[in-house]
Amino acid sequence: GSNLFENEERPASLAAIGKAIQQCRRCEIGCNGTRAVMGEGPARAALMIVGEQPGDVEEQQGRPFVGPAGRLLRAHLEDAGIDQEAAYVTNAVKHFKFVPKVMRGGGKRRLHQSPTAKEIDVCRWWVEGERTLVKPQLVLALGASAARGMLGKTVSVQKVRGVPQALDDGSELWITTHPSYLLRLQDDARAGEEARFAADLRAVAARLG
Ligand code: URA
Repeated sequence: GSNLFENEERPASLAAIGKAIQQCRRCEIGCNGTRAVMGEGPARAALMIVGEQPGDVEEQQGRPFVGPAGRLLRAHLEDAGIDQEAAYVTNAVKHFKFVPKVMRGGGKRRLHQSPTAKEIDVCRWWVEGERTLVKPQLVLALGASAARGMLGKTVSVQKVRGVPQALDDGSELWITTHPSYLLRLQDDARAGEEARFAADLRAVAARLG
């Protein structure tokens, strides 16, 4: 996988990362000047949960997973018996990538855009810094961008879900879908995919013990 900036000194603490990402202009998204969102949770955690990037609500509040996707994620974690307070929650990309859109009636919205592979790879510097410090036993990546953030290469979520992969330090990477994807589905498709998501989280819970 790609490992940009490998000759730079690793950030020494989570606080240092939280500060540095606010100044980060290594990619186009950082250059849009919005607030970067740092991970949250215990400084050492057995479980690290990685999303794609902050959304609209997360950017406004400066906290990961506080919007609709986060609500759905928390409900599923609770059902699976995973203690969310004990998990370190973060994103593969630290800034919100969006296009402004003027709605009918004049209101303005910021529409989510997927980060490019390049943008994810640039931001790996930060999320890998977090992982090195938090030292989770298990990482749960939500969706393809998070998986790339952890692996430095693109994998098919459908092919690798349920099959843990070993990371460089011996910890396990589990990959499942992103809760925002579930939110976009309707009716039967949504029910089926949510059931698979729930099953993935139960497997993670069993592995954590
Ligand atoms: N979606 C994500 O991937 N991360 C967040 O923090 C919020 C929504």
